Amino acid sequence: MALTPEVTSVLNEQINKEMYSSYLYLTFADYYEDRGLKGFANWYEIQAKEEMDHALAIRRYLLDNDFKPTMEAIAKPDKVFDNDLAPLEAGLEHEEYVTSLIHHCYEVAHSVHDVRTMKFLDWFVAEQGEEETNARDMITNMKLFGCDPKGLYDLDREYQARTYVQSASLNL
Ligand SMILES: [Fe+2]
Ligand SMILES: [Fe+2]
Repeated sequence: MALTPEVTSVLNEQINKEMYSSYLYLTFADYYEDRGLKGFANWYEIQAKEEMDHALAIRRYLLDNDFKPTMEAIAKPDKVFDNDLAPLEAGLEHEEYVTSLIHHCYEVAHSVHDVRTMKFLDWFVAEQGEEETNARDMITNMKLFGCDPKGLYDLDREYQARTYVQSASLNL
């Protein structure tokens, strides 16, 4: 059964949004790298890779369903940060926005009774819940420990320990 134009259109747009997320998180990593906080930079570099995986998974889904996606221009991230908390707050705001986009994709699939796409999007719905939790935790940690140099050092070490693992449930 072919995907409807409504569904292919929102999923094609979502590829672009996920790639923009990847791009955005690279600018967060650049900010922290410049600050000498290589652990925070590492965390966001890995986040950028995950966002690219999300884009690739949606691309693969469209291709497997006999639709050729179009790669549109990716917007330039234009946020400027002047303190170490600011990227984390921008991160939570961005993830909440992406959650609304994923939910919209789901609603479009639901409106045309596209059960296959709804099932495909289930993973993304759960993932967004985790992303928001992570983003909130990072803000809490920074507020609790970030104002003390030793606390900030320990946090940076903690984020340095994050390693990239490609999600086994994503078909890229
Ligand atoms: Fe994502
Ligand atoms: Fe995300």
